[in-house]
Amino acid sequence: MARNIYGLDLGSYEIKVYDKRKDTIWKEKNAIALVKEREIFAVGDEAYEMYGKAPSNIEVAFPMKEGVISRFNDMQFLLQSLLKKDRQFSRGAEYVIAVPTDVTEVEKKAFFDLVIHSNARAKEVNIVERAIADAIGLNLDVEHTNGLVIANFGGETTELSILAGGGMVMNRLLKVGGMAFDEGLVNLIRHRHDFLIGRRTAEYLRKNFGVFTSDAESMLPVAGRDLITGVPMQKTISITLARAAMKEPLLDCVRAIQSLIDRTPPEVRRAIQKNGIFLTGGVASMPGLESYIEEMVGIPTRTALEPDICSVIGIKKIIQSKELRKLAYSMLDENYRWMR
Ligand SMILES: Nc1ncnc2c1ncn2[C@@H]1O[C@H](COP(=O)(O)OP(=O)(O)OP(=O)(O)O)[C@@H](O)[C@H]1O
Ligand SMILES: [Mg+2]
Repeated sequence: MARNIYGLDLGSYEIKVYDKRKDTIWKEKNAIALVKEREIFAVGDEAYEMYGKAPSNIEVAFPMKEGVISRFNDMQFLLQSLLKKDRQFSRGAEYVIAVPTDVTEVEKKAFFDLVIHSNARAKEVNIVERAIADAIGLNLDVEHTNGLVIANFGGETTELSILAGGGMVMNRLLKVGGMAFDEGLVNLIRHRHDFLIGRRTAEYLRKNFGVFTSDAESMLPVAGRDLITGVPMQKTISITLARAAMKEPLLDCVRAIQSLIDRTPPEVRRAIQKNGIFLTGGVASMPGLESYIEEMVGIPTRTALEPDICSVIGIKKIIQSKELRKLAYSMLDENYRWMR
């Protein structure tokens, strides 16, 4: 049987996997539940479900922070457990991994080490810049574009990239994502109402309000704890609070897109004006984000069909196509500029 190939897009919020043998894409939360900081209790979606609900001896940890691996051993264990859930997991597989660009070489290499130095005994590991994977997932012509912007709005990061002349010419990783919006909302509700909600409740509000599209009277009831009486109760929250919490972080993204474009040569800028901005990442599922960016930046903006899995769809295409394969490369390769 041919060796299996896995395509990985490891996000701070969710791990996305393409399995070549089965030709499937699946995703699971990037979370691990530990008992007494050592024993593994649960992984993936199951671990995430326990977040905020687990007894005090169980810690739910998130092995990635702001787009990079912060708990290497947990990440390695989590990934292998998820891959092994599928009984057909075979050692010695090949891996193609999407990596962020605007991080240190050590942080980038950790993605590589994750599978190469593990008992998965990877046969071959190649990496691809995430923005390139996104562009392929979007069916864009990476090789011939004269200028376009990709903005990947993820769980803990927003990665902005400019592609031109066959590759990436500029990239910036902002530490702003779904989580920053949700934490902002938790804090705002605490201050305004003396009411404490969890991060997952804040995420529920952000997903269900229609922040960009609903009218100003929208309200949603949520469960939380009254901080004055200490009693758990329900409270109705107004959409204006969700909007207020998202305003500043969103403006940070807009300003970063503008300043990145401002730094490109005029001919690339003209091409971007024409070709536009493309949104990917889970947060881009929010209806109306596209029009908001288009209006604020003043450049036509479109969203990927399935923004959360756009990168891994790109990796799938790279794995399947001989021609696109060259977009992925080994960090051990002589031509890999930085590792020598
Ligand atoms: N339908 C939706 N509406 C609003 N937000 C959504 C929706 N679906 C997913 N999200 C948000 O998208 C975020 C996750 O996106 P994604 O999977 O791209 O992140 P990630 O790749 O894990 O993180 P990062 O790239 O920052 O490391 C979460 O904050 C989640 O709340
Ligand atoms: Mg991501």
